[in-house]
Amino acid sequence: MSDGHDAEWWRSAVIYQVYPRSFADGNGDGTGDLAGVRQRLGHLRDLGVDAIWFTPWYRSPLADGGYDVEDYRAIDPAFGTLTEAEALIAEARELGLRTIVDVVPNHVSDRHPWFRAALAAGPGSPERDRFWFRAGRGARGDEMPTRWVSDFQGSTWTRTTNPDGTPGEWYLHLFTPEQPDLNWDHPDVRREHEEILRFWFDRGVAGVRIDSAALPVKDPALPEVPEAWGPGEHPHLDRDGLHDIYRSWRAVADSYDEPRVLVGEIWLPDARRFARYLRGDEMHTAFNFDFMTRPWDAKELRESIRTTLEAHAPVGAPPTWVLSNHDVTRPVTRYGREDSSFDFAAKRFGTPTDLAVGGRRARAAALLTGALPGALYLYQGDELGLPEVELPVEAIQDPMHFRSGGVDPGRDGCRVPLPWARTGSSYGFGPDGGAAPWLPQPDGWGDLSVEAQEDDPVSMLALYRRMLAVRRSEPGLRDGDLVWLDAVAGAPVPARALAFARGDVACVVNLGPDPVPLPQDADLLLHSGDPATRPTSVLTDTAAWVRW
Ligand code: GLC
Repeated sequence: MSDGHDAEWWRSAVIYQVYPRSFADGNGDGTGDLAGVRQRLGHLRDLGVDAIWFTPWYRSPLADGGYDVEDYRAIDPAFGTLTEAEALIAEARELGLRTIVDVVPNHVSDRHPWFRAALAAGPGSPERDRFWFRAGRGARGDEMPTRWVSDFQGSTWTRTTNPDGTPGEWYLHLFTPEQPDLNWDHPDVRREHEEILRFWFDRGVAGVRIDSAALPVKDPALPEVPEAWGPGEHPHLDRDGLHDIYRSWRAVADSYDEPRVLVGEIWLPDARRFARYLRGDEMHTAFNFDFMTRPWDAKELRESIRTTLEAHAPVGAPPTWVLSNHDVTRPVTRYGREDSSFDFAAKRFGTPTDLAVGGRRARAAALLTGALPGALYLYQGDELGLPEVELPVEAIQDPMHFRSGGVDPGRDGCRVPLPWARTGSSYGFGPDGGAAPWLPQPDGWGDLSVEAQEDDPVSMLALYRRMLAVRRSEPGLRDGDLVWLDAVAGAPVPARALAFARGDVACVVNLGPDPVPLPQDADLLLHSGDPATRPTSVLTDTAAWVRW
């Protein structure tokens, strides 16, 4: 763990994502909270991570799990208080754990004071200029201003009602109607966000994760999305004007004694456009979704690793490796499916899944990502090998599900409250006998709990702990360049395997049918199979780290 003042800590950090609503429930009301996180910090210390990223914990109506922020300077009462957040940040730091908070610049909640004021002030008012209010098209103004499609499906405009009851202007929301988009051409919007950054940086947070970071700037002419577009030509994605914003954020981050870190959530297929956000005076890192969306296939993963390293090298930024997060299907489930790639549009109920295969691959994937150069992100529960839960429809709360007309199961299946204990009414998520968790936990959830896995050397938790310990103690895995290996133990590496060295550690991952032999006298540091065995070759869907 990186204690003390280390300005470069983020280059090779292991960052654990906490979804506060589902991590641990300290007060027994069925919703996770900061008290719960404070009780469980020891788990993160023992796991061996460097930092915690919290998805939004601010005051919010939770129309989109907190990505609809009503007040950035207050903690949602369901989660706790600002004083508790300050204590949590300090306690985590005592344990060597830095804190990253989420900032959501694209939109606010429709209950945010600015949006309420905009609605109250009416058309043409300066209050409306902070958002995208427009008259509708057509003679009666009842056609929406553009046909842009929401990232959550459906339309991106909602019509307002004037104070006198007549139909009014429309406002833009790339996500749900409860998340009106901000107008980043407005100086108040820029000033406010820089103040929000300072507010949290002053409280000791080490950095921010920037939500939907390629979306906030819009073409003010609001044209339709063309069928094909050149770099920077899309009306609401990856516009060149974003870079100025992040440069000014970087200046704020750099003004701190230990410079604060900016991590972008950037979904962009074009690796070069992606890398522009990581130039020296912009963000430090951004999530590598290309890798996350690829199937369990050696060629695909090799290509993703290559493209990623190539795109990052010229800007001098470290890559990041992400197997999952609060928006996507859990790896144990995804890798157990015939199509193991990830695509929001392809999620369906009842997809056949082989959890035994998926679990084996997820273990190998942990060793693969843990050996790659750069920062590693872990989503809560992946260290327990939790599967995606297929929830009963009546339990689902995610707006993605409803906006798809019920076709898309949504994202709640990876947000089911964590099991901490073998038994108990919520498997230790909250105090025994407390309110039922906000999403139901499936039967047998306790078998996957921290308690059940802690002393089991074959468990996913044991593998993650060992992996992070070796990663920390091997300098090659921190600083070594990645060198692809053509041969292992004198035999060529099969096309369906990956083999590379970092310093004097080699990582071999076998995604094909035939065993990949290891050197006879190999100094085996770690492998993803049963730790009681000492395999002489890397078997199907397993991985090994050896001293090279
Ligand atoms: C990001 C978040 C997601 C949220 C969306 C809108 O993609 O990760 O959870 O729904 O932004 O804020």
